[in-house]
Amino acid sequence: MSTAYVNGRYLPKASAGVHIEDRGFQFADAVYEVFAVQDGRLVDEDGHLQRLERSLDELSIQPPMSRKALTLVMRQLLRVNHLRYGSLYLQVSRGVAPRDFPAPQNLTPTLVMTVTRQKAFDAVAARKGVNVITTHDLRWKRCDIKTVQLLAGVLAKTEAVARGAAEAWLLDDKGFITEGSASNAWIITQNDELITRHTDHAILGGITRQTVLKLAAENGLKYEERAFSLAEALAAREAFTTSSIIMVRPVVKIDDTQLGSGECGPFCRTIIELYDSYLKNGFSA
Ligand SMILES: Cc1ncc(COP(=O)(O)O)c(C=O)c1O
Repeated sequence: MSTAYVNGRYLPKASAGVHIEDRGFQFADAVYEVFAVQDGRLVDEDGHLQRLERSLDELSIQPPMSRKALTLVMRQLLRVNHLRYGSLYLQVSRGVAPRDFPAPQNLTPTLVMTVTRQKAFDAVAARKGVNVITTHDLRWKRCDIKTVQLLAGVLAKTEAVARGAAEAWLLDDKGFITEGSASNAWIITQNDELITRHTDHAILGGITRQTVLKLAAENGLKYEERAFSLAEALAAREAFTTSSIIMVRPVVKIDDTQLGSGECGPFCRTIIELYDSYLKNGFSA
C-alpha cells in the first residue's frame, strides 16, 4: 500500500481523499505535474517546478507553499514510499468552496501527491515501437497550462487503445499535428531533420521535449520547432513521442501507414541513447 500526501498529512493512498466541494473535483480548477523518478531522484525537477509555478500564475491559483517546502515534501514522500523508480504525481487545486463558477480569491489551495512504481528506464526495451492513431484535437485554447481538465485527452487515448494503438496524436483544424493526448509528437524527415511543433497555446511545453531538444543541440543534430502536417508525418522516415512517463518511445505506425521498416530507426535509437546517458549522468548531458 503506498502513502499519499494530502494537505500536510501522509496517509494510506486507499483512504486519502479531498472534500467533495474541492474546485478541482467540481470544475477541474486545478493544475498538476508528473515527475519521473530514477534512482530515487526527481528527473528535471527544476523544469517541472517552473512549469507548475507558471500554470498556477496563469490561473491565479495561490501556490500551496514555497518551492523549498514543496521539494522537501516531495523528497519525504519518496522516502516514506521507498520509491527508487517510478513517478510522482502532484496536484494543486484552487481549494474548497461552495459550488459556484466565479473563482473566490485567497482560497487555501489543496495539495495532493501520490507515487507510482515503475521499472527503471531501459534503453533496449525503449526501442520497441508503438502505433499511434490520429484524431481531432478537441481541447481548449490554453493547452500550454497543465490543468487537470483532461477529458479530451482521455477520449482520444481511449479511442487509441480501442484501435490497438498506444497513443493518439491530435490534429488541429488545418490538418497539423499538435501533440499527443499525453505526450509531445516528433518526426524525422527524409532529410534527417528532427521536427517537433513550436510551443504556443496549442500544446503543452513538455519537459522531456525540452530535454530532448537540448540533447539534440548539444550533439549537433539538426532540428526545427515548427508545425508539421499529417501528410508530412505519414511521409516521415521515423517518428517518436515523449513524456515524463514514457520518456522516449519510437512510433512505427501512424493510422494505417507504417514508417520505414516498422521498427525503431537509427535516429530514434540515437535519441534514446542520449536520453539514457542523460539519466545515467544525473540529468546532465
Ligand atoms: C498533452 C501533453 N503533452 C505533452 C506531455 C509531455 O510533457 P512532459 O514531457 O513534461 O511529461 C504531456 C504529459 O503529460 C501531456 O499531457
